[in-house]
Amino acid sequence: MPERTVTVTDNHSGKSIELPVREPTLGPAAVDIGRFFRELGYFTYDPGFLSTASCHSRLTYLDGAEGKLLYRGYPIEQLAEHSNFLEVAYLMLYGELPDAEQLTSFRNIITHHTMLNEALKDFFRGFYHDAHPMAIMVGVVGSLSAFYHDSTDIGNPQHREIAAHRLIAKMPSIAAASYKHSIGEPQVYPDNRLSYTGNLLNMMFSVPCEEYHVDPVAEKALDLIFILHIDHEQNASTSTVRLAGSSGANPFACIASGIAALWGPAHGGANEAVLDMLREIGDARNIPAFLARAKDRKDPFRLMGFGHRVYKNYDPRARIIRRMCHEVLAKLGDENDPLFELALRLEEIALKDDYFIERKLYPNVDFYSGLIYRALGIPANMFTVMFAIARTVGWVAQWMEMIGEENQRIGRPRQLYTGPSTRDYVTLDRR
Ligand code: CMC
Repeated sequence: MPERTVTVTDNHSGKSIELPVREPTLGPAAVDIGRFFRELGYFTYDPGFLSTASCHSRLTYLDGAEGKLLYRGYPIEQLAEHSNFLEVAYLMLYGELPDAEQLTSFRNIITHHTMLNEALKDFFRGFYHDAHPMAIMVGVVGSLSAFYHDSTDIGNPQHREIAAHRLIAKMPSIAAASYKHSIGEPQVYPDNRLSYTGNLLNMMFSVPCEEYHVDPVAEKALDLIFILHIDHEQNASTSTVRLAGSSGANPFACIASGIAALWGPAHGGANEAVLDMLREIGDARNIPAFLARAKDRKDPFRLMGFGHRVYKNYDPRARIIRRMCHEVLAKLGDENDPLFELALRLEEIALKDDYFIERKLYPNVDFYSGLIYRALGIPANMFTVMFAIARTVGWVAQWMEMIGEENQRIGRPRQLYTGPSTRDYVTLDRR
């Protein structure tokens, strides 16, 4: 097929340029505007990146209109049904599903990197007693670069791989320690006999004076939620990780920047915000009043857990999680949980409402994840931390993909300057 091009004509100067089109394996092609400024003298303007591909990637594909999500080509539904978190993590890092030997070896490596340097404990003690676990997480993950210098040479593929393993392995230990600090309980060491999610539950909920058994239903549910959250192409936190990484910053610092970006309520913080919102609504009779507020442009209130930049159809992760919510609540919690019933009712009413229909606003992954976390006994301020643990795999895989490329350049967007034009300094006595 001949190479596609797009011709752009500047109606002001009459100059035309032909821009090459980069072909994808799936989804829309991208017009390569690398020469645009040099040849036409204009920047392109796209705040919020509505039409801009910031990179090329082989990791994750989203089709927002179809409500489709693929990791390395595999549909999320198939991975959710047949795979497990560490197997999918391997797939994301190395590009192919592991054979039995590769999986055992990977599991072993991750399991044996779960412990934290003892000196890190002092960091946790330094945080205020009721610090939000996400605040602790941002700080502690950033500090890892001060403890693991031997894996910060980003030009060395082995260093990159060890850093990736360390991050994936230590995130549950850091998350659990953040939680334990916030409730004033002693940190629990990882137990290498347990699975990835079993270990996390044990470190969060066991105490030295009691016996604790990991509930297999909780362990499995968490594993599934983690698979769903592993990656989501160039979302805000992943783009942050790539941008930080493009300057040559070490991977621990890059992942800390991703955690910070994830924290916001428009991104990973939405799962916590959904539960707050459901509590605030309180009763199905109040739904119309809250929907009216969500539709009112003058009111900043939005229906949390609804809408997505890319999905203009049901979020496929939300569909899986909604089903799981029924199962988990039936086994572990209360299927008649009033907040779950309220969520179902809210979804039903919103999906019939013209405002939501016209704007193609559907529930996203966060609409139901918080309810499952709650049934697992995980407190609301840990919801986004859970997201961060799983997303670390995506962040790390995206970072490795970027750093491994030839001719990788620093990400440096330009701007449309709207400040004052040149003016002369006025001395203090004349102002
Ligand atoms: N409630 C009410 N109205 C909404 C909502 C909502 N949740 N989401 C979007 N809209 C409206 C918005 O006001 C706009 O209306 P109009 O065209 O009249 O101005 C229209 O829908 C398009 O919205 P947008 O703000 O241009 O969409 P966006 O792509 O910039 O924002 C979003 C996407 C996810 C930030 C937004 O839908 C939102 O704030 N949702 C609630 C927060 C949330 O659930 N976030 C989790 C996202 S999924 C997990 C993750 O990726 O972290």
